[in-house]
Amino acid sequence: MRILVTGGGGFVGSHVAEAYRNAGHHVAVVDVLSGGRRNNTPPGVMFYRMDIRRPELAEVFREERPELVSHHAAEASVRASIANPVADADTNVLGTLRVLELAVRYRVSQVVFSSTAGALYGEPQRLPVSEDHPILPTAPYGFHKYLGEQYLQYYRRMHGLNTTILRYGNVYGPRQDPQTEAGVIAIFAAAMLAGRRPTIFGDGTQVRDFVYVGDVADANLRVVGRRIDEPVHVATGVGTSVNDLARALRGLTGAADLPEHGPAVPGEVHTIVLSPERAARLLDWRPRLPLEEGLRRTVEWFRQHGSPRATSA
Ligand SMILES: NC(=O)c1ccc[n+]([C@@H]2O[C@H](COP(=O)([O-])OP(=O)(O)OC[C@H]3O[C@@H](n4cnc5c(N)ncnc54)[C@H](O)[C@@H]3O)[C@@H](O)[C@H]2O)c1
Repeated sequence: MRILVTGGGGFVGSHVAEAYRNAGHHVAVVDVLSGGRRNNTPPGVMFYRMDIRRPELAEVFREERPELVSHHAAEASVRASIANPVADADTNVLGTLRVLELAVRYRVSQVVFSSTAGALYGEPQRLPVSEDHPILPTAPYGFHKYLGEQYLQYYRRMHGLNTTILRYGNVYGPRQDPQTEAGVIAIFAAAMLAGRRPTIFGDGTQVRDFVYVGDVADANLRVVGRRIDEPVHVATGVGTSVNDLARALRGLTGAADLPEHGPAVPGEVHTIVLSPERAARLLDWRPRLPLEEGLRRTVEWFRQHGSPRATSA
């Protein structure tokens, strides 16, 4: 199949592009490299450096004629969305809308959207959170991702596009950029390996659902060619506190100290754990890599590749 991965120079998109390529698909990537890196894109994959908001994106669709678009390009920072909601909406709403318009114009059969589970529900009313939990985002990033989802569903109804919504937990693994705010594991691992002491915002009892990027790529493989009309969590159903994470990473990196504590981030969700039951039922997908092994692989990657600046999460 011919597949176009937007944001394929970024952390998750590059793993998804690689998984598609390894499965024998013809893969192209479009990425403006506002985050991400050119050399994240695997060999054998065509790379277009372009902003998805540019009209020239049509030329990529004309050239590549994708049958499936995997939409991972995004402004992926919750804090950046609070600082600049307009910029977030420009990429995450209007950018998504442009991709959908081109998908219809160039007769794409399926669009897969990388949505968020962690930033949609606010402080959950019950755990683990199912996809039917009320949507109560606490930041523009969550509103805009949800609007993206709504647009996908609208394009399915209006144009018959096969649209797939994957809501990720906290994705971690090799190639995650420790200079962004999203990846606490990347930030801690890179800082500890560099002999720096990272900062935990708050008391560290906050709980997240961490899912390994290889498992996320596997979920993306499983949706190819399927019709799945409901949003699906890609998460583990297992909660881990930031303090436990810091202890595990200290053990793996051999860091002298545990992180220090700084002020909590106002409005941050305290505890979220996501039910992966729907993904098991509809995709026969289960997270395969236990956190311990995922952390080991991630630390090993950062040991080999290093990272210049990483201090807080
Ligand atoms: N990492 C997570 O834990 C997580 C959780 C939930 C959802 N997601 C979603 O998964 C996707 C990938 O996230 P990530 O963690 O890999 O982030 P990332 O920043 O590593 O990747 C995003 C990529 O999109 C590119 N991009 C941004 N704006 C663009 C534009 N206007 N035109 C073209 N390219 C553009 C960036 O250059 C970057 O390479 C995003 O849609 C994000 O919202 C990620």
